[in-house]
Amino acid sequence: MNQHIITSPASGWDRPEPSEKFIAKHSADDVEIWRQLTGKVAAIASENGFGKSEVGRRMGMEVSTFSQWFSGAYLGRLETYNRMAEQWLHAFFEASDVVSNIRQSPLFINTRLSREIFDTLSWAQTTADMVMITVGAGMGKTMACRTYAATRPHVYHATITPHTKTVHGMLVELAAELEVKENNPARLTRAIGAKLGRIGGGSLLIVDEAQNLVDDAINQLRHFMDIYQCGIALVGNDEVYTRFGRSAGGPSYAQLKRRIGKRLNRAKPYLEDLQAYIAAWGITDPECVKFLTGIGLKGGALGQIDKTAKLAFMAAEGGGQPLSITHVKAAWQNRDVEEIA
Ligand SMILES: Nc1ncnc2c1ncn2[C@@H]1O[C@H](COP(=O)(O)OP(=O)(O)OP(=O)(O)O)[C@@H](O)[C@H]1O
Ligand SMILES: [Mg+2]
Repeated sequence: MNQHIITSPASGWDRPEPSEKFIAKHSADDVEIWRQLTGKVAAIASENGFGKSEVGRRMGMEVSTFSQWFSGAYLGRLETYNRMAEQWLHAFFEASDVVSNIRQSPLFINTRLSREIFDTLSWAQTTADMVMITVGAGMGKTMACRTYAATRPHVYHATITPHTKTVHGMLVELAAELEVKENNPARLTRAIGAKLGRIGGGSLLIVDEAQNLVDDAINQLRHFMDIYQCGIALVGNDEVYTRFGRSAGGPSYAQLKRRIGKRLNRAKPYLEDLQAYIAAWGITDPECVKFLTGIGLKGGALGQIDKTAKLAFMAAEGGGQPLSITHVKAAWQNRDVEEIA
């Protein structure tokens, strides 16, 4: 795709008009956060005479990615780049000694559910077993897996998307995660296996969003476990398990089911986790806490609280006010309406 990148200083900071594809691709929340962020970025950049390539570089983005992100044409994972922009804004305000209320999402907190996920992953890793973690949306699966992988040796965390759900797609994804360089597709399985088995057991492969995998890809994972004695964790929503149930009786499913050593299944968040998370946002006003807890119980759990709190804080900061229930309710309503529309 041809990209028009404006590099002259301070030009092209008009408010971007996102493409239809962009709006259709991303959630209303992410687009709203993007709108607020691009507004702030544009204001700071034009005030300070920064060009686009300069801002992109300062944020740590490729210039072309920044250009796509800013103009509302980026179709990859928007949240990642929103977060980079947010971090830069935060750093910028801090450096220029301006008081900023742009809130960052809390860093990892040790919730009850994350402890359960850690225990299950640890079981898979130490016993070279296959485990299945089926937990409701937004409850912190990915965050817990990412933290586990970041703090333990020989743990790999790959995420499957509808584009990488086939055996080959998955293998390419795994190769990238394991930093295996093998261009010959016929040798890919062996190269990945060799890396997983390198330490003679004790490695763990976490496959996130595993509900996306096709059956053959799941069988391929079973093969890795059997041959190379690595632990496998299938992580995803309830569909992962339903899929096995659906074809119960088929030989491959029986083989697979037999291999699932441990399963962690939880549809609803723990109340204590919601409370701990709201507290980690620094929100103590009882009305706000109650309202956000209610949001967390509706489905989407911590993820919903995260996005609502972020929007509410942005609105409060925009008006120069402390956070109140009015901001929280407005943020929630705003999101709800947009989601329905
Ligand atoms: N243990 C935690 N500590 C801090 N924040 C958390 C924690 N768990 C979840 N969160 C927050 O909740 C959001 C959603 O969490 P996460 O993406 O891990 O959920 P998920 O269960 O993987 O959801 P999905 O089903 O959509 O994949 C995160 O972006 C993060 O802000
Ligand atoms: Mg996830």
